[in-house]
Amino acid sequence: MSSTLESPSPLNNPTQSTSGLSVLRMASAGDASRRVAREIGSLIRHRASQHRNCVLGLATGSTPIRVYRELVRMHREEGLSFHNVVTFNLDEYYPIKPDAAQSYVRFMNQHLFDHIDIVRANVHIPKGTIELEAVPGYCRDYDELIASSGGIDLQLLGIGRTGHIGFNEPGATRDTRTRMVKLDDLTRLDAVKDFGGIEHVPLLAITMGVDSILQSRRIRLLAFGEHKADIVQRAIEGRISSTIPATYLQTHGDVQYLLDDAAADCLSSATLGETIR
Ligand code: PGA
Repeated sequence: MSSTLESPSPLNNPTQSTSGLSVLRMASAGDASRRVAREIGSLIRHRASQHRNCVLGLATGSTPIRVYRELVRMHREEGLSFHNVVTFNLDEYYPIKPDAAQSYVRFMNQHLFDHIDIVRANVHIPKGTIELEAVPGYCRDYDELIASSGGIDLQLLGIGRTGHIGFNEPGATRDTRTRMVKLDDLTRLDAVKDFGGIEHVPLLAITMGVDSILQSRRIRLLAFGEHKADIVQRAIEGRISSTIPATYLQTHGDVQYLLDDAAADCLSSATLGETIR
């Protein structure tokens, strides 16, 4: 793990621009999810009209499930095609087989890919079965593939209670790229519900790095529920530091947090620019 690096938060330091970060408090998690799904749908259609690909960075966990449900509905009922879509998932446990119940391959198939017309060759999820010695080269290739695909147009994010984005746990610095990481104890505890016992939760994962994420053109972070309120406040209003990797999002030019009331509960009224009802 790298040592903690600190710099002032733009929100606490009026000399720095805060224009790149916006916070929307939405009436419900469903409303927030539909808003992001609509934005993704518009981006895909806009790119298709230009005969170009749309590159999406995708997340797993309970938070983005409603976004995927809405995208599937848009595919079925509104004819949204994913033919021109290329996807890169943030992370995967290591080691894990793709057909394991807890693998993110299984998660993405179940919630999205099995229900849409995406070209399977355009789907990328870090492999949990790579030989240990091959992992560094594999991770370099993953970042290079993102770049050669044109870079991520829109990155969907959740946030862990440790302040992780992807599996960039406390200690992950601004310059990190795709790599193998050790999972934080709190993250492993939060995964017990999926694995049925702490002894079954993997110790390691492969994740896109903080820098890999910050290279995305747009970032949309969803957080719902009172258990996220404290970390959301520290991520948005706290000092930029590797102690909470999500604080690095404060340096990005186009990042939007979409929160429900409970997740927005600890934010100051100055931060909450817009409440959508
Ligand atoms: P969750 O996880 O959506 O299951 O709360 C979010 C995350 O760890 O990034």
